[in-house]
Amino acid sequence: MDILRTKSIENSMADTEDPDFKLKKSLTALDLTVFGIGVIIGAGIFTLTGRVAQAYAGPAVVFSFIIAAICCALAALCYAEFASTVPVSGSAYTFSYATLGELVAWIIGWDLILELMLGASVVAQGWASYFETFLGQIGVGWPDHLGYGDTFNLAAFLLVAVLTALVAFGIKESLRVNLALVALKLFVVLFVIIAGIQFIDTDNYKPFVPESAPGETAGGWLHTPLIQSVFGAPGVYGTAGVLFAASLVFFAYIGFDVVATTAEEAQNPQRDLPRGIIGSLVVCTILYVAVALVITGMVRYDEINPDAALANAFVAQGKDGYATLISAGAVAGLTTVVMTLLIGAVRVFFAMSRDGLMPLALAKVNPSTGTPVRITVAIGVVVALVASLTPIGKLEEMVNIGTLSAFALVSIAVPILRRRRPDLERSFRVPFSPFLPWLSAAICVFLMLNLTAETWLRFLVWMALGFAIYFGYGYRHSRVGQGQGEPARDYSSRG
Ligand code: ALA
Repeated sequence: MDILRTKSIENSMADTEDPDFKLKKSLTALDLTVFGIGVIIGAGIFTLTGRVAQAYAGPAVVFSFIIAAICCALAALCYAEFASTVPVSGSAYTFSYATLGELVAWIIGWDLILELMLGASVVAQGWASYFETFLGQIGVGWPDHLGYGDTFNLAAFLLVAVLTALVAFGIKESLRVNLALVALKLFVVLFVIIAGIQFIDTDNYKPFVPESAPGETAGGWLHTPLIQSVFGAPGVYGTAGVLFAASLVFFAYIGFDVVATTAEEAQNPQRDLPRGIIGSLVVCTILYVAVALVITGMVRYDEINPDAALANAFVAQGKDGYATLISAGAVAGLTTVVMTLLIGAVRVFFAMSRDGLMPLALAKVNPSTGTPVRITVAIGVVVALVASLTPIGKLEEMVNIGTLSAFALVSIAVPILRRRRPDLERSFRVPFSPFLPWLSAAICVFLMLNLTAETWLRFLVWMALGFAIYFGYGYRHSRVGQGQGEPARDYSSRG
């Protein structure tokens, strides 16, 4: 069995010229940056920050954001090197197909699908909450969740349906909508920072790192971070709390890697992708740290409202109008996140189907829209159902573990590709390789260990399902395996 077979980079690039599967190359550097910021700033800052500060880290959630940012920055450097070397659709999946072989590529692709589809569902749920809150604030009613036991989240379902239609219609058109919404979202985040500064009470920063306390025992070991269970010291706040919080607020950065999934549609990927990825990450980190400082300065950490921290911090100051504005911004902001995650999921699925690891027929590009309509609709249906039928607050950690595992594998792949293909042109190179790529992988794994045992179990089930599909279908239908588009050279036996 040859699960280490690789798809050559030349071959991946040639696929992008096949008229049946060709995407439009229309994205500019600005589009990519907008795309990045559009997907990164979302439910993480609007909802998770408050919840995590209140329950696990206090004002020290600022450190959690910085730790998560360091993890992402290192992974971003690795992504940028890959994206500037292998500018084809599918992101880390494609990169690893060329370096680590088909099985690892499948695992990464499967992780990315988890990240992007569940991520879209989580943010759609967050959107629905803000949407309902906003309508309430302006005095308009909306049917709360429908169905038996209020189980159907209608707002989340409708949002995903509309966005799926937009994405299917064409990526350029979707990005235009994105641009306006991203501008509004940035405005609101800056508004929170600037309007909030005057309400900061520095007493709220004392203590900045609350003393550690025994963890909740309600959920038992299943709901305790794995690393805390292993070392036998479950607890919240203090250093352990900051680290657990870092593995949670990591969610707020998810998305910069999605920029890499659009490589095939960029006009000048070698130059613009590294700029788009790293640029959007830097902007977001600065904004997050500022928002975290403002919120924990405005409200004492143990009094933060865990549901809508940003808006409620202003309600507590008697500024209801500000709160309405923030809710409106959240509605706009979360819309772009859901859409961009959907686009990312479509791209990864597209790349995997084009390689025959999933049914090839799904990857057909519709000639009039220039987009893979079948995959888009299939993904839209799944995301809409998950978003409308699963309880809120259950899926974030799953998104994080899927993403972190993909980042770890990508980081390891950077030095491997350098050794195997020193000849390829790289317009961007990670400094201090292989030290930084290894460090990146180590931090990703460390954050994964800070997620709960329950999340690990779910993740293992997801991976088992992935292996079943790969060995039951993908391995036999792989185009590389069938000799169609055989690699120009086989690197799997080297290095
Ligand atoms: N980073 C995105 C968010 O925070 C997924 O919503």
